Amino acid sequence: MRLKDKVAVITGGSLGIGLAVADRFAREGAIVIISGRGQQALDEAEAHITGQGGRIRTMKVDVQYKQQVDQMIDDIIAEFGRIDIVVNNAGICSPAPFLEITEEDWERHMAINLKGTFLVSQRAAQEMVKTGIHGAFVHMSSVNGLAGEMDQAHYNSSKGGLNLLAMSMAVELAQYGIRVNSLCPGFIATRLTQPLIDQPQAIEAYLKTIPMGRVGQPEDIADAALFLAGDEAKYVTGHCLVVDGGQLIKLS
Ligand SMILES: NC(=O)c1ccc[n+]([C@@H]2O[C@H](COP(=O)([O-])OP(=O)(O)OC[C@H]3O[C@@H](n4cnc5c(N)ncnc54)[C@H](O)[C@@H]3O)[C@@H](O)[C@H]2O)c1
Repeated sequence: MRLKDKVAVITGGSLGIGLAVADRFAREGAIVIISGRGQQALDEAEAHITGQGGRIRTMKVDVQYKQQVDQMIDDIIAEFGRIDIVVNNAGICSPAPFLEITEEDWERHMAINLKGTFLVSQRAAQEMVKTGIHGAFVHMSSVNGLAGEMDQAHYNSSKGGLNLLAMSMAVELAQYGIRVNSLCPGFIATRLTQPLIDQPQAIEAYLKTIPMGRVGQPEDIADAALFLAGDEAKYVTGHCLVVDGGQLIKLS
């Protein structure tokens, strides 16, 4: 088991990529704490993971609110006494043309995707330093944090910010033995991307942009997150790992 008895926090861990990460980590022996906003999805995720013999706690937390984030970290420390791994996965994406993005759209993307990761990471890192844990952070960025996609200026900017946040944290936290990396998935089949998957012509055209010829699955990302969070990546920090079937390297 690669994460035996590690305490791993996964934000937005009740669905999609986050749930796949939680599932993978639990099967590697971690105690997983998943946060999310919907109680039903949290309950279903808990049933799924305990059904496989995994150890899990669920917490209803909206990551854009400092008070809720602080309470989550306090509760985890009170119960487990430590945090070893944080996967900052919670995120939203509501496409809109640049000329039409509202101030509210912009602020929501920044608050959830970027500020939420800052809030969780700062409090968790403070606890790691206090308890002497050589922990690992994985920020769920995107290929959209490395290149500009149409109708996503707010989302792209928030994900670009996550890559720089990971590098900045990596530089400052290395002295405490804490590693920080970001993961940049390409197109992964989840609720977020279902609208495109549901359009056969659009998805056929889209697949032509991916050299490996298929969309990614949440498990593809979970495997990469396991690598970055685990000891096999013990000399890897400040890295941005692209997992996209080759989409980003293809010019046409
Ligand atoms: N699916 C893709 O193609 C893809 C590609 C690149 C990056 N990503 C990123 O991966 C992450 C997971 O995406 P997904 O595809 O699984 O989507 P999803 O919508 O299935 O999951 C998103 C999760 O984030 C949670 N969440 C949203 N807002 C939150 C908030 N304010 N507080 C707490 N939790 C919140 C949701 O409840 C959900 O559990 C996101 O950060 C997304 O940007 C996804």
